[in-house]
Order: sequence, then C-alpha cells, then structure tokens
Amino acid sequence: VFAKVTQGPPDAILGITEAFKTDSFAEKINLGVGAYRDDAGKPYVLPSVKEAELRLVQQMLDKEYAGITGVPAFTKLAATLAYSPESKAITEDRLMITQSISGTGALRIGGEFLARWYPHGKTIYVPSPTWANHGAVFRDSGLEVKSYRYYDQKTISLDIDGLLDDLSSIPKKSMVLLHACAHNPTGVDPTPDQWKMIAEVMKKNELFPFFDMAYQGFASGDADKDAFALRYFVEQDFELVLAQSFAKNMGLYGERVGAFSLVTASPEEKKRVDSQIKIVVRPLYSNPPVHGARIASEIMGDEKLNAQWLGEVKGMADRIIAMRSLLRENLEKLGSSRSWTHITSQIGMFCYSGLTPEQVDDLRFKHSVYLTRDGRISMAGVTTKNVTRLAESIYAVTE
Ligand code: LMR
Repeated sequence: VFAKVTQGPPDAILGITEAFKTDSFAEKINLGVGAYRDDAGKPYVLPSVKEAELRLVQQMLDKEYAGITGVPAFTKLAATLAYSPESKAITEDRLMITQSISGTGALRIGGEFLARWYPHGKTIYVPSPTWANHGAVFRDSGLEVKSYRYYDQKTISLDIDGLLDDLSSIPKKSMVLLHACAHNPTGVDPTPDQWKMIAEVMKKNELFPFFDMAYQGFASGDADKDAFALRYFVEQDFELVLAQSFAKNMGLYGERVGAFSLVTASPEEKKRVDSQIKIVVRPLYSNPPVHGARIASEIMGDEKLNAQWLGEVKGMADRIIAMRSLLRENLEKLGSSRSWTHITSQIGMFCYSGLTPEQVDDLRFKHSVYLTRDGRISMAGVTTKNVTRLAESIYAVTE
C-alpha cells in the first residue's frame, strides 16, 4: 500500500536531537533544539513548577475534558501575562483567547482561522530568517508564505532599513509575522524605538500583525519588558493575533502549554470569532490537555509562586548570558581571528553564529557538536563544563 511513500528529510531542528542520540561519544554536545539545560547539562524542572504540581496532586482533581478553548483560569492568566491586566483589549472585552497545543498549535490555529476568515488575501510575510517551522505551519494551514528582510549577515544586526522598506512596499493589508521578543534564530530584536517605526509603517500600509511570543521573559529576564512590542501595538489600536508558548519560560516543553488570542474590534465581534475558533479546534484535537495548563495557572494565579517563577525565568536568562560571555572569552583566548562580539550582543536562547553549513557539518562529524545547519547555537546547551571543548571545536572548524 505504501510502496510509493518516499523518504522525507529529517526535521531541521528536531532531526538534530535524533542524530545526537545515536552518537556514542561521551563528550558530545547538543546545541540544536531550543530547550533549556542547567549547568550540569540536564533538563531543568523549575522549582515553581514542582511546587504547583505538588499542590495539584494534593487537590486530587478529576480528569474531565476541558472545554474546546481550554482551562478558563489558564487562558485568563495567559492573557494578562502577555497583554497586562490594564490592556484595553481586556478591559474593553475585545480579547478572544483559546488554549493551544503550545506555540506551534497556537500558530496553526491562527493559520487555519486566518486562511478561512482574513478578508484581505492569504499571504503572510515572515522575517528572513525565521523559525524553521513557521513556513510549514502556515502553508499547511492554507496560507501563502513570503518573507521580508530582517537580518543583515554583514553587520550581524537588524536590517532595519530593509525591513521598513519591505513592509512599506508589500501589498496593503497583508499579514505579517513578528517575533515579539528573542527572535529565533538570530537573537536580534528591534529596539523599542525601532518597534515604533515598524508599527508606524504597518499602520500606514494597513498590515495585519501576527505576533509569535515563544520566549516571553527570556530576552530581558523581565516578562513585562519582553511584551513591549505586543502591548505597544495594542495601544496603537491594531487588531492583531498572538501565539503564546509556555514551553521555554515555564520549562513545560512536553506538557504542550500555549494560547492563541485575537484582539478584535468589539465584544460582539469577539463572540463570533470565538465561535469560529471552536470550529477550527474541534476537528483538529477536540480540546486541549489539562495538566500543563493547570500547572501554569496555579503558578500565575498565586502572587508568591508567580514572583518565584519570574525569578526563575530571570535565573535561566542570566545563566545563558553568562555562557555567552564564557564562550566568547574562550574563543578570543584561543586567538581566533574572527570577531565573536555578536555572541554577547545577541539575546534570548540562541546565538546566530555565522558558521556555514559546511562548518556545522564539520562540528558534527569531527567534534560531536550538534547544531542546526543555519549556524544557530542553542546557548541553553552550553555549560561551564563543555564550553572549553565547544570553543576549541568552533576554533578548529573556523581557522
Ligand atoms: C527551537 O526552535 O529549537 C524550538 O522552538 C523547538 C522547536 O520545536 O523547534
């Protein structure tokens, strides 16, 4: 029956983990997937998450289905985390929100909904480069995906002129994907002033913002600061949509906790949108899993636990910053003739190293160091124990 099924390529990001697992070298290093590790290289379950789970177990909750749009306590708190409790989208009752299967699921609900209901075409513009999965998610949703300039390889920084140029010249009312903070894969974000310029151009060209916020808290260590762009666009009266993930900032990767929200024009419009989101979700997965959403709402709904969690997010962000300095120092100590300043100037979980696909292959096959072929290094996999060997390996393939 399946004789004609062809072999597909491994996933650009998750395929790296698969390859890593088959490597028997004891000192192998996985810098592929964006998943936080502690300084011992081990997955990190946040103490606030452990505490929330203990409380949940003690409550002996039932396992009934959530509604189609998820656990209401969770979605309410997810909305205030992203938009702030004072957001006019919330106080004016114009915000529709549904739980999702983490960030990817949120993007997919958004893609499906916009493919059906966005009235001004089916094209979404994504930054170049962008997260390796964005194109596939949107194309499978029925959208056409094009790109706008974002990153300048020569200056290793934001190509703000190219970006503004492209956003002013693409067809009016197109949809535009924006990484709210900690851009994946480049680690390069617009400054608040640049965000204001982006908003102005988008207003002028009547573009529709689709925010992806997978790393709230990871860019600056401060969840409010990281939500600046999203909140600014809402203040500027944009209608917009948002995909949120709790994979990274709560370390809830496998629990698949996320949310998709839309800022609509009125409470009445919100109701109609809500009915259509349910029609998108029901045939996809019926309703979302409850456990992870309960963990997240237990944390966000308790002032003390919430403060503890925000401190833990900052702790993760700070460890990554420390590893950036160490990696750069080690490369400079080895006498590398290249500039590695971008390792410390970039933010969030990733370093967009500038390594070529061939150098990435050398790292993998000669040094058992695994990263994606675009040269993205997940800094979360760097530790005080492996940073010296990592620097030596990078030095060896770049000199
Ligand atoms: C990443 O970019 O590594 C993460 O977002 C994980 C994933 O699913 O790709």
